[in-house]
Amino acid sequence: MKRTHHCGELRTEHIGQEVVLNGWVQRSRDHGGVIFIDLRDRSGLVQLVFNPEIQPEPHKMAEEAKNEYVLAIKGPVRHRPEGTENPNLATGEVEVVAEQVEVLNVAKTPPFMIGDEEPDEQVRLRYRYLDLRRPRMAKILELRHRMTSAVREFFNSEGFYEIETPMLWKSTPEGAREFLVPARLVPGTFFVLPQSPQLCKQLLMVAGVERYYQIARCFRDEDSRADRQPEFTQIDVEMSFVDQDDVLSTVERMCAHVMKIATGVDLPLPFPRYTYAEAMARWGSDKPDTRFGMELVDIGDLVADSGFKVFRNALESGGQVKAINAPGCGDYSRKEIDDLIDLSKRFGAKGLASWILGEGEIKSQVAKFLTEEQMQAIFNRVGATTGDLVLAVADKPGIVAEALNRIRLEMGGRLNMIPEGVWDFHWVVDFPLFGWNEKESRYDPMHHPFCAPNPEDIDLLRQGYDTTAEPGHPGHPWGKVRASLYDLVLNGYELGGGSIRTHRRDLQELVFGAIGLDFEHAKERFGFLLEAFEYGAPPHGGIACGLDRFVAILSGCDSIRDVIAFPKTATFTCPLSGAPTPVEEAALKDLHLRSLVEH
Ligand code: AMO
Ligand code: AMP
Repeated sequence: MKRTHHCGELRTEHIGQEVVLNGWVQRSRDHGGVIFIDLRDRSGLVQLVFNPEIQPEPHKMAEEAKNEYVLAIKGPVRHRPEGTENPNLATGEVEVVAEQVEVLNVAKTPPFMIGDEEPDEQVRLRYRYLDLRRPRMAKILELRHRMTSAVREFFNSEGFYEIETPMLWKSTPEGAREFLVPARLVPGTFFVLPQSPQLCKQLLMVAGVERYYQIARCFRDEDSRADRQPEFTQIDVEMSFVDQDDVLSTVERMCAHVMKIATGVDLPLPFPRYTYAEAMARWGSDKPDTRFGMELVDIGDLVADSGFKVFRNALESGGQVKAINAPGCGDYSRKEIDDLIDLSKRFGAKGLASWILGEGEIKSQVAKFLTEEQMQAIFNRVGATTGDLVLAVADKPGIVAEALNRIRLEMGGRLNMIPEGVWDFHWVVDFPLFGWNEKESRYDPMHHPFCAPNPEDIDLLRQGYDTTAEPGHPGHPWGKVRASLYDLVLNGYELGGGSIRTHRRDLQELVFGAIGLDFEHAKERFGFLLEAFEYGAPPHGGIACGLDRFVAILSGCDSIRDVIAFPKTATFTCPLSGAPTPVEEAALKDLHLRSLVEH
């Protein structure tokens, strides 16, 4: 009883053929003698018929077959009797007459029905092997496989080598908390699970590999969120003798190939590119969702000499006042407005000014501070008309951006402004090389310390050493240095990020100096990389894209947990295996460790 066909592939063209199917009982219905069983395998369902008069033996076995029993059946495919076709099922025009049946295995009653209905996530993860039998999950696994194969196909055809890098490794400079692995044979020492293959792939460039990729497992001990897992997969890439455009164009073509294979869609190339400054100004985000409008509009000049102290103070201390227009939301209640104010406060704003443009009247808590003309000028600039709601935040640029970005995304969602089935890929480029670390009063690298400055800004980097401007002051040259750093954004999610790396010692020292890291100190942390660079490192750069996020977006999943076969829960556990678990005292002793926690 070896299978000849998959359940989900049977169509009218198979009518008359004798087939052997292997699969699981989805459900069984006894229609007064005749029994119907929906048999499932990973391709889908098909209906089996057991007639007691014609096939008494198989019928008897069908009577005993419960949900999730594993069957092998043999029999002819036939057209379903007229009026009994099921248009909702791909195989809905046909059925298979079970003339021979073998029960390959019995099954306990599963804790949930394997169907479209979504059980509680804790239960799904506890019985993940049953959850993955659900058609939705089977489709996701298949899609992920196709996408991964397409990635490999693309890079293989472009002369890249796929190279594995170690899991037992040393600290990488990404900066998330790391997982430690005690080294039994060298007491008191630890390996680190890699946050990414970053340093290894750069060493491979020094090694002359020139074009590397890897479907790479990465580990970061950070809080799990919908789009983050402690263990995740990157499409990791590094290339030698290239500039930023070469990397971007390679990745664009990779995305186009994957999209073609996964969805059949032809992506228009090249992807739009926005500078970081433009993205922050227009959408308040470095991963803007540009599938809809409602852009942020600067109204600072219109309210600079208004009577509203909040606006004036923000502007006088170097801040901004920006607004968005929510069309048709002029009927919002006091409570709805208050909820939006709360939302803006959760993202750092001190408040949210609002104007409801009613018929012949304006409802606003800040109307008393502004003249009729000032308000009209604001409405004109944001394009608001009767029936609309205008929302504004005054604060430091970073806070205005963050708060209004969140409000924009919330309103865009509520107003159904985000179109379905649109694949909005774009690049954000020209990030600043350094970010000012207020707490520590120093510049930090935006990404990691090996990210190269934009070639046009190397003079600024040098000027930073001679200037009298205070570090952290907006006028300081280091604050203005752009990086050769790029992020790939898909539908408002950061899909990937990378950079051109610094490969020469003189430039590296300039960068280290700016972040307060002297070369000797750096040698302690990244010594082996810096040493390797002294042996003729080629110019190189690369990127890593989150495979889990890519699959999640294409399959319409809110959480990357849905596209990982065996993910961790939001609280960092695996309900299926019960991990993490305590270990025996003796096992710890072997590792020269003692636990501070009593179990
Ligand atoms: P970065 O840290 O930006 O860059 O990571 C690249 C991409 O990996 C994905 N990602 C994650 N996905 C799921 N769970 C996580 N916890 C998680 N963290 C990151 C994101 C992100 O865009 N080595 C550099 C790349 C380079 O410079 O070449 C790096 O790892 O989609
Ligand atoms: P208050 O003067 O605190 O009563 O605030 C009056 C209105 O201005 C309220 O609707 C606040 O939400 C709003 N508001 C307060 N601070 C800000 C701010 N920084 N930006 C925008 N609106 C604000």
